[in-house]
Amino acid sequence: MSTPNATTAIKPRRLVLDMPEYHPPLAGRNALRLDFNENTLAPSPRVLDRLRQVTAEDLTKYPEREPVERKVAAHLGLDPAQVLLTNGVDEAIHLICCTFLEEGDEAIVCTPSFFMYDVSVSMMTRGLVRIQADETLEFPFERFLAAINERTKLIIVASPNNPTGATVTRAQMLAIANAAPNSVLMADEAYFHFHGETVLDDLASTPNLVVARTFSKAYGLANLRLGMLVGNAEVMSYLRKTSSPYNVNGVALDCLSVAIEDDAYIAWYAEQIRVGRERMMAGLSELGVGYFPSAANFVLMKIGPLHKELVAAMRRRDVLLRDRSADPGCDGYVRITIGVGDQVSQGLEALKASFEEIGWKPQRGFSTTESKTPREFE
Ligand SMILES: Cc1ncc(COP(=O)(O)O)c(C=O)c1O
Repeated sequence: MSTPNATTAIKPRRLVLDMPEYHPPLAGRNALRLDFNENTLAPSPRVLDRLRQVTAEDLTKYPEREPVERKVAAHLGLDPAQVLLTNGVDEAIHLICCTFLEEGDEAIVCTPSFFMYDVSVSMMTRGLVRIQADETLEFPFERFLAAINERTKLIIVASPNNPTGATVTRAQMLAIANAAPNSVLMADEAYFHFHGETVLDDLASTPNLVVARTFSKAYGLANLRLGMLVGNAEVMSYLRKTSSPYNVNGVALDCLSVAIEDDAYIAWYAEQIRVGRERMMAGLSELGVGYFPSAANFVLMKIGPLHKELVAAMRRRDVLLRDRSADPGCDGYVRITIGVGDQVSQGLEALKASFEEIGWKPQRGFSTTESKTPREFE
């Protein structure tokens, strides 16, 4: 009988051996979830109605993605050939990297940003070019443009960005696309609904632009794993080739069909977040906490050396936060997700009590730009 931990002579590709891993802290999340930027309430009630109608036979069938892609395309005013549904944006990033990157190619990302970019790029090439934001954590536009060269094959820009909440203007996004006509520019609009600015209308005039959207945030479907890529039909045809025809399960597809019909729910949820974000930022100012102004459903707070103690004290009060100190340029920073209604007050009250417990005092002008080299992120 073989033992599960027996060593083997099998080795993966060298890039896989060297690539970083992403281990989000998923354990013990039965509390107020202000840690993962999810919807903290529920999806549209239509989704739950649809789920209750799932039959035993439905579960026995392979999923059919195309009819839902046609619906999503109609909803966005696009051609179905321009839309690819994915198993979350995580899979979308993976597919983009597998489809367009060869060893030696360069891919440009901004740091700090979403760590799955680093993971998926490093799986394909050692040419990951990370442009570090300065202490303002605003998008380093000029240095980003300057990094583009003939080896650049992929550029990934999140707007709003995670974990900073900073945005990239439409003009900047298009300038980047135009400066790199032979590279794919993936505009990650995961937090679009909380900001409102998009480059979706520029797809026709910008063939190297691919927009990623997730249904994990405003739509409240993180557990169903739904994302999409939209872009030029020819570019999308390459991505379709590398994706499995069954990458999104049929229950998720059914739920997505009804979720996109409920625009009123998304508008309501986004408005709750806009109001809650203002309350959160005002509450943080009152508590003397420095933070980065955010266009997303979270705020990055400047806590300082007691960052770990704060996250632990909040957990004892059943409120989860995300320590971002390991991100380059983020030492001492902790992210808080904006919830709806009372959840914002609960978050602020727990912060106040936790600060008292750990002896945290406002640190005027606290900021640090000291970088760390990430290997393994929590
Ligand atoms: C900028 C950004 N892109 C993509 C994702 C992943 O989204 P999904 O749940 O669709 O994989 C996240 C998740 O936090 C994110 O912050």
